[in-house]
Amino acid sequence: MSITVKTEKKIGIVGSGLIGRSWAMIFAASGYKACLYDIEPKQIEGALADVKTQLKTLEADGLLRGNLSADQQFSLIEGTTNLQEAVKNASIIQECVPERLELKRKVWKQVDDVVSPNTILSSSTSTFLPSSLSDHLTNKKNFIVSHPVNPPYYVPVIEVVPAPWTDPEVAKKTRAIWEEVGQTPVSLTKEVPGFIINRLQYAILNETWHLVTEGVLNVSDIDKIMSEGLGMRYAFLGMLETTHLNDHGFVNYCKSYADTIYAVSKDFKPTPKFEGPHVLEIAKQLEKDVPLDKLQERRNWRDKCLTKLSQLKKQMNKLKI
Ligand SMILES: NC(=O)c1ccc[n+]([C@@H]2O[C@H](COP(=O)([O-])OP(=O)(O)OC[C@H]3O[C@@H](n4cnc5c(N)ncnc54)[C@H](O)[C@@H]3O)[C@@H](O)[C@H]2O)c1
Ligand SMILES: *[C@@H]1O[C@H](CO)[C@@H](O)[C@H](O)[C@H]1NC(C)=O
Ligand SMILES: *[C@@H]1O[C@H](CO)[C@@H](O)[C@H](O)[C@H]1NC(C)=O
Ligand SMILES: *[C@@H]1O[C@H](CO)[C@@H](O)[C@H](O)[C@H]1NC(C)=O
Ligand SMILES: *[C@@H]1O[C@H](CO)[C@@H](O)[C@H](O)[C@H]1NC(C)=O
Repeated sequence: MSITVKTEKKIGIVGSGLIGRSWAMIFAASGYKACLYDIEPKQIEGALADVKTQLKTLEADGLLRGNLSADQQFSLIEGTTNLQEAVKNASIIQECVPERLELKRKVWKQVDDVVSPNTILSSSTSTFLPSSLSDHLTNKKNFIVSHPVNPPYYVPVIEVVPAPWTDPEVAKKTRAIWEEVGQTPVSLTKEVPGFIINRLQYAILNETWHLVTEGVLNVSDIDKIMSEGLGMRYAFLGMLETTHLNDHGFVNYCKSYADTIYAVSKDFKPTPKFEGPHVLEIAKQLEKDVPLDKLQERRNWRDKCLTKLSQLKKQMNKLKI
């Protein structure tokens, strides 16, 4: 493994859609060159124009990351329809093509055929296990998943997920790169379906489904449990630290609540399937608040909230004991 061989501060990005653009901006903010590859020349043009606008807007709003100006950052980003150019001398390739297994496997084979053995091969996939994307690659020990949460510019966590054959050095180096560019990587020691974010998210959705379909409370009220309750703490503390602070430390928390947690958990129902008439019933309640033609407006509001929250978190982290 020659991953320590010096490579440029360059990322090759394969797929210039929503996530590919975010990566380009995040890396350029830390002085990396970012080369955006796509099969669609129109997509690249659109991506570059969009990135430029986004950088300018961020700069005007005082929200631009890093020390370089919007123009300097933009000059670090280029587009190409030539895969070889995108991967050349890159320390990491981040793939962001649509979430289709066969497409991703094909694209990775193409990259594998032209990439140097010093380059980290990283996928943004949200659902496919790294083993299912890389078993056919010559450089499969350089393969890893780096799964972001949208929008990664403001939501920093990245799940770093190795395949069984991923070189541990690659996992370490990948984590270090994400830290270097200001994201917050978490490292899994092995691949598990759903990684961590979706496993936790589905566990919550799962119980939410039961409570709503059993008529314990309605959609708008259960969503408040998170947005006006648990979520407020979870924006700053993890699940475990929350328990640690809620009693005199975790040991005492377990002494106080182990029986309760067990009894309540025993009351959970079998794993539900999100289908049947309840789907329309829940959708109807959600659409009363946010009709389908207002989704984009609400997303824009969500992203503004996340921007403000990420600023608040930075301030508050400075005050942490
Ligand atoms: N959007 C999200 O919220 C989100 C969050 C986490 C992870 N992801 C993951 O990121 C990946 C990309 O998602 P997205 O939302 O950016 O998709 P997108 O549809 O916005 O962009 C995909 C891009 O890939 C390009 N493309 C298609 N075929 C290609 C090929 N053969 N070679 C090169 N480029 C090709 C398309 O032209 C398009 O520009 C997916 O794996 C997705 O699961 C997305
Ligand atoms: C910005 O500059 C400061 C001080 O020179 C440095 O510590 C920091 O790492 C830089 N940030 C980025 C993102 O380059
Ligand atoms: C790649 O790096 C090598 C060694 O540093 C350098 O000679 C070469 O010009 C670089 N290629 C490109 C396309 O930047
Ligand atoms: C789904 O919830 C049920 C209880 O509601 C539980 O038995 C099952 O393990 C849960 N699955 C997940 C993914 O949490
Ligand atoms: C949800 O339930 C509460 C309590 O019954 C009620 O006040 C509220 O109007 C309901 N919300 C919707 C959107 O039906």
